[in-house]
Amino acid sequence: MQLTDILCEVVVNSAVLAPLFRITTLTKLDISSNSIQGELPANEIANFTKLLYLDLRENSFNGSIPTQLFYLQRLQYLDMSSNMFNGILSQEVGALRNLRALRVLNLGGNNLTWNNNANVVPKCMLSQLSLRSCRVVGPIPKWIFTQKSLDFLDLRENELDGNFPEWLAEQNIETIILSNNKLTGSLPPPLFQSLNLSVLAFSRYYFSGKLPRNMGDTTSVMILMLASNNFSGPIPKTISKIYRLLLLDLSQNQFFGNTFPSFGPDALLAYVDVSSNRLSGEVPVNFALGTKILALV
Ligand SMILES: *[C@@H]1O[C@H](CO)[C@@H](O)[C@H](O)[C@H]1NC(C)=O
Ligand SMILES: *[C@@H]1O[C@H](CO)[C@@H](O)[C@H](O)[C@H]1NC(C)=O
Ligand SMILES: *[C@@H]1O[C@H](CO)[C@@H](O)[C@H](O)[C@H]1NC(C)=O
Ligand SMILES: *[C@@H]1O[C@H](CO)[C@@H](O)[C@H](O)[C@H]1NC(C)=O
Repeated sequence: MQLTDILCEVVVNSAVLAPLFRITTLTKLDISSNSIQGELPANEIANFTKLLYLDLRENSFNGSIPTQLFYLQRLQYLDMSSNMFNGILSQEVGALRNLRALRVLNLGGNNLTWNNNANVVPKCMLSQLSLRSCRVVGPIPKWIFTQKSLDFLDLRENELDGNFPEWLAEQNIETIILSNNKLTGSLPPPLFQSLNLSVLAFSRYYFSGKLPRNMGDTTSVMILMLASNNFSGPIPKTISKIYRLLLLDLSQNQFFGNTFPSFGPDALLAYVDVSSNRLSGEVPVNFALGTKILALV
């Protein structure tokens, strides 16, 4: 049985939902984007053993995430993002350890702390992971290396430091969002050899160094956001080879020189921002016909 697209116009307390949580034959429950407040009924959740899909995103659930949730063996899809859940998520008893079937895990935008235990060996094989603003501290978690099917990774707004790891660059992920962290160093060239990469968002970082000259190899990239870092050197001309590029934001860096990629009139590029750099020379005139926003100074 599936319950989806339940919409309540008014603010309701989660207690009102208790009968819903007693339908133990449910396989899919989507109560996203409502105004539900209060805690998740932990005991009822323990009986949801057939549940495959749970979407609670964009509500006002509070309290801790009941550990019972992490024992639902069949759960494949878990989105609890944009709520007011509290507490520390220990990976030992958490989602990674017990939920073998899990493919999508989204916990972003709560008041959670993700305990970054280096020894965790995940039993799941995720395709999407979002730990946006989950207070992840230290280097990019090493266990992500085990997630060979990952195609979406969002770790923005955490306290990650250290370098962008080579193993992550080689993992062939489509979307990598790491904005608002404290990562340093340069971007490893293998990142731009990926044939799947389509979104790279690394704004407001402390990245530095030159951009790899092979950047144009990632012809699948559509969105490239590297604003507010400390990148220097010339803007690689090969960027113009990325024919699917729609959005290019290199603003607020230390790029210098007069080599600006020359985008042909057929390029798809609609948004270009290279402002607040130290570029010199003539203002380029060759931009795509579809350009909507152009910020050069
Ligand atoms: C969970 O299921 C058990 C047995 O199937 C039942 O006795 C119990 O009341 C259920 N718990 C809740 C909270 O519905
Ligand atoms: C959750 O919110 C409700 C009201 O919306 C409040 O009464 C309750 O104390 C909160 N619980 C926690 C654990 O913060
Ligand atoms: C968020 O969690 C911290 C502890 O981890 C707590 O001190 C703080 O009060 C919480 N904030 C809100 C808005 O619940
Ligand atoms: C940015 O790079 C310059 C050299 O290119 C260096 O002097 C400066 O300390 C760097 N700033 C940060 C915040 O890393």
